[in-house]
Amino acid sequence: MTIVINMRDRVDNKKIKIAAKFIREGKLVAFPTETVYGLGADALNEKAVRRIFEAKGRPTDNPLIVHIARFKQLYELARNVPREAEILAEHFWPGPLTIVLPKKDNVPKITTGGLNTVAIRMPAHEIALNLVKASGRPIAAPSANISGKPSPTLAEHVVDDFYGKIECIIDGGEVKIGVESTVLDLTTKPPTLLRPGGLPLEEIERIIGKIKIHPAVKGKTVDIAKAPGMKYKHYAPNAQVIVIEGDREKVKEKIKTLLKEYKKRGIKVGIMATGDFYEADAYVNLGNSEEEVAKNLFRALRELDKSGVDVILAEGIEEKGLGLAVMNRLRKAAGYKIVRA
Ligand code: TXA
Ligand code: MG
Repeated sequence: MTIVINMRDRVDNKKIKIAAKFIREGKLVAFPTETVYGLGADALNEKAVRRIFEAKGRPTDNPLIVHIARFKQLYELARNVPREAEILAEHFWPGPLTIVLPKKDNVPKITTGGLNTVAIRMPAHEIALNLVKASGRPIAAPSANISGKPSPTLAEHVVDDFYGKIECIIDGGEVKIGVESTVLDLTTKPPTLLRPGGLPLEEIERIIGKIKIHPAVKGKTVDIAKAPGMKYKHYAPNAQVIVIEGDREKVKEKIKTLLKEYKKRGIKVGIMATGDFYEADAYVNLGNSEEEVAKNLFRALRELDKSGVDVILAEGIEEKGLGLAVMNRLRKAAGYKIVRA
């Protein structure tokens, strides 16, 4: 049975206590964060964490992010905490930054996908923070979607994927950011960006200087899987996604041309673009800023896919600010099918 707790209008700490009890009992609780919804369990309880993998259909070598609510928990999970980690935590926590550090022995291998490192973040969402505090446990939580589906930005998405399969879903309304956290590996020098996300690269570099970008962030070939998540197909809708990249005006022209060609061939087309409306079978306006596009991206993919179109044409945006995270997700969703305008 799944209990859905509605906290869209008001955070209710009495209800959070019910969810926290579930966590302590080794049960699964989906909850909102500022990035996307997470599917949480006690990070130190092997059995509970194993259930996350089963529920998602997630390969067990793809490690989870451990969520904390107090700075001292960082020292309870990481074997050593370099000064850089403390500086980043001071600047960006609570917030959409996940840091990878050597793990302590108390963190089970199932949580870290067999790795000797652990990914840690302090989310900037009252419900998430209060849930971690009330449970008294660090909470392991991947995005609350079935493996291979777009991450959930609304509780409805979690209900679609997990109703009846987990004990509790906390509905906190729409998330603020819409793409997952930025994952930064601090075990390398300089640190390595493993996944662009809700905290723009530019902001991190302003504090700690140049960082390396893992080649998988922009391309598809991964040799050494440092973030094993990179080797799996993500955000894959049933429709074929095609990303159109290049100069904005030319991209818009190209979308019109492709739309005409597909229509002639009787192929159903969905379009997600910034601003302009298109006479397609389905259309989602992504908004105009990188922030808006990030917030609307996963919902757009889910909606267009539900509409039953055969092809989704997606307008690419500039890779600055949240644009880097957006383009990383879009290209993955497209299986790297990219058209240059
Ligand atoms: O915003 C987020 O990060 C959301 C919310 C719920 O916090 N969570 C999330 O988790 O996106 P997930 O499991 O969907 O993505 C976790 C990413 C994966 O790419 C995984 O490979 C990487 O973090 N990761 C986790 N632990 C790691 C580790 N020890 N070393 C390298 N990468 C790691
Ligand atoms: Mg995920």
